[in-house]
Amino acid sequence: MFNNRATINFLEEDQQFHLNNGLISYIFKLSSDGKLLQLYYGKAIPDKDYSYLIEMHHRPMTTYRQENDLLYSLEHLKQEFPEYGTTDFRHPAISLRQENGSKITDFVYLKHEIFNGKPQLENLPATYFENDSEGKTLVITLKDKVTNVEVELLYTIFSDLPVITRSSRVINKGSQVQFIEEIASLSLDLPDADYDWMQLSGAWGRERAVKERPLQQGIQSIESTRGISSHQHNPFVALKRKNTDETSGVVIGTALVYSGNFLIQAEVDTWDVTRLQVGINPFGFQWQLNPTETFTSPEVVLVYSNCGLNQMSQTFHQLFRKRLARGVWRDKDRPVLINNWEATYFDFDEDKLVSIAEKAHDVGVELFVLDDGWFGERNNDHSGLGDWFVNKTRLPRGIGSLAEKIRSIGLKFGLWFEPEMVNKESKLYKEHPDWMIHTPNRKENHGRNQFVLNFGMQEVVDEIFNQMCSIIDESKLEYIKWDMNRPLTDVYDARLESSQQGEVFHRYVLGVYRLYEMLITKYPNILFESCSSGGGRFDPGMLYYAPQAWTSDDSDAIERLKIQYGTSMLYPISSMGAHVSIVPNHQTNRLTPIETRGNVAFFGAFGYELDLNQLTEKEILVVKKQITFYKKYRSVIHNGIFYRLISPFDCDEQAAWMIVSEDKKTAIVAHYKILNKVNQPYKRLYLQGLHSEFVYQNDDQLYSGSELMNVGFIISDASSGQNNEQNIRPETYDFDSRIWVFTQKED
Ligand code: GLA
Repeated sequence: MFNNRATINFLEEDQQFHLNNGLISYIFKLSSDGKLLQLYYGKAIPDKDYSYLIEMHHRPMTTYRQENDLLYSLEHLKQEFPEYGTTDFRHPAISLRQENGSKITDFVYLKHEIFNGKPQLENLPATYFENDSEGKTLVITLKDKVTNVEVELLYTIFSDLPVITRSSRVINKGSQVQFIEEIASLSLDLPDADYDWMQLSGAWGRERAVKERPLQQGIQSIESTRGISSHQHNPFVALKRKNTDETSGVVIGTALVYSGNFLIQAEVDTWDVTRLQVGINPFGFQWQLNPTETFTSPEVVLVYSNCGLNQMSQTFHQLFRKRLARGVWRDKDRPVLINNWEATYFDFDEDKLVSIAEKAHDVGVELFVLDDGWFGERNNDHSGLGDWFVNKTRLPRGIGSLAEKIRSIGLKFGLWFEPEMVNKESKLYKEHPDWMIHTPNRKENHGRNQFVLNFGMQEVVDEIFNQMCSIIDESKLEYIKWDMNRPLTDVYDARLESSQQGEVFHRYVLGVYRLYEMLITKYPNILFESCSSGGGRFDPGMLYYAPQAWTSDDSDAIERLKIQYGTSMLYPISSMGAHVSIVPNHQTNRLTPIETRGNVAFFGAFGYELDLNQLTEKEILVVKKQITFYKKYRSVIHNGIFYRLISPFDCDEQAAWMIVSEDKKTAIVAHYKILNKVNQPYKRLYLQGLHSEFVYQNDDQLYSGSELMNVGFIISDASSGQNNEQNIRPETYDFDSRIWVFTQKED
């Protein structure tokens, strides 16, 4: 019935919009007084008039839009751009404070436009098309007659993915100043509340744990108030039907392409209508919109799946990997790197670094990353941030000479920066104490002895850009790790009017994006990895600039199972920085086998973060094998389709996942045994995503795809008993793991 292409139809007679690509439909219509009423969002359905879905009923204690009418109340209606206080009492998509203090508005339809392609959002990261045939965009303009403010609602539907993106532009065409106090990028009313809410939450060192709860009447929300998207909550929520699991059932996933304060909430009203809203956090936000000015809200991505969480994640992965990440590194194999942080911390000199690099090159590493400590007077974490010139005490021959040395060993060279920060013990602070975010006459609160530069100021961004350019040019950097190690406090900008203080957080984020854009424009070949004390700013906004991010400062393989599993809900495997580190692990003091550390880190942008000189000969042999394995399969790992098989969040002390190449000819399957047990059941792993008719080979055994998916692959080990000499099952230990590669057998 459908040809898998995006269409946006406006049925004039029914005043109904229908976005459809054969996978999903998104339908809403205009009311007789120009309000946008939501009708349907879900699996694709045919075009017809769906006005019968509108509920207009007389109920006690309700208020109505028209005199002598006891039916039309916005409180009962599902809407696209709701406002508060004109018969709707739920949270609005916009709150506009006017000069007289009123926040009442009445935005009604003015016009609309439908076109091929997807417009860029000004100064904001967003998904994109490579050509206009990849989808269609609908722009609906609403107008509030009293203020003369217009709002453009942008809807883009992708041709080949169950994806709709949304954002809005508020344009002040009036003569008075307006204050935007709230602007949700997405407001979607769903007809019932039979969903479980899934969020990814945690803390430093245990980011993005999967947490779920049923929706209830009232508001459930996650947010950031820290100026970064945060370790605590990721800007992502999924609403899944009660029976939804990894392989079946309906789920709606939403993510905000933004790296600052956000709010995602679901308000379930008294009639079980669910209002899902996503956008900049209104807490601490207010934007002064002068006449002629426009404010653009960040983009929201909406993903629909009726085949469970894996399909939702695969859609996010494909979208983020191919149409959010940009630049030459988007599709390129990522280099195996070694980072010196956990190997040396601040205790290094050139000889030590060179000895790590030489050993790394011997085993097959391709990129050497010098982490914190190479600049300014950075001898500990009290000083140096803001001074992006070489620390001559540590590296007397300069950074260019070190870079050359590393290159002569045969490795690429990368450096760590923390561009947004300043220590009071720095040249930059002495020269520009007013560049630091602080509130005059009040205590200045630090984080790790450091303060935040006001990236809302163009001259601050320019100064850091210039400093970074000198270092990049001198050392011809091939990689940059951009860190950000504290939330924002004491937020104020003395150069702005008192009425503009609610803008400081957002201006800061725009400044961060500006610096990223300046750097990637000037140096398109550099591979950027974002970081924020591990995964404190692992968000879709960052992926637009940096195609990979340091997933967590917790490098323990067992902890990483949960962290990477949760992260995979929406972020592609290629985006997750994952390193093998030393044991006892520096965060957990845990001892895990080097094989397991590798088997976990393979499912990410792979690297090492230890001094290889401290490993035994036997371990070095394992490392060499790991690197050979990774190089052989990295393009499958990064471009393949990822399936979660067994969750480490279930209490069975195990986890499993797999990746299948796009042509289905290769599958890499991993099983992790967290704690060993005795006298266990016989175990099979039911593989997914294979071609049922292909014959796959693993070791000397042949299996059909349908066999591996339906009969399952036996993973029993010695814990489920030994029988005879011919069938010795592998002994297993705590923190053990196994990886199998299945390749299509060509005749
Ligand atoms: C943060 C990062 C680490 C490391 C240190 C350096 O914590 O997450 O990987 O770069 O900073 O100070």
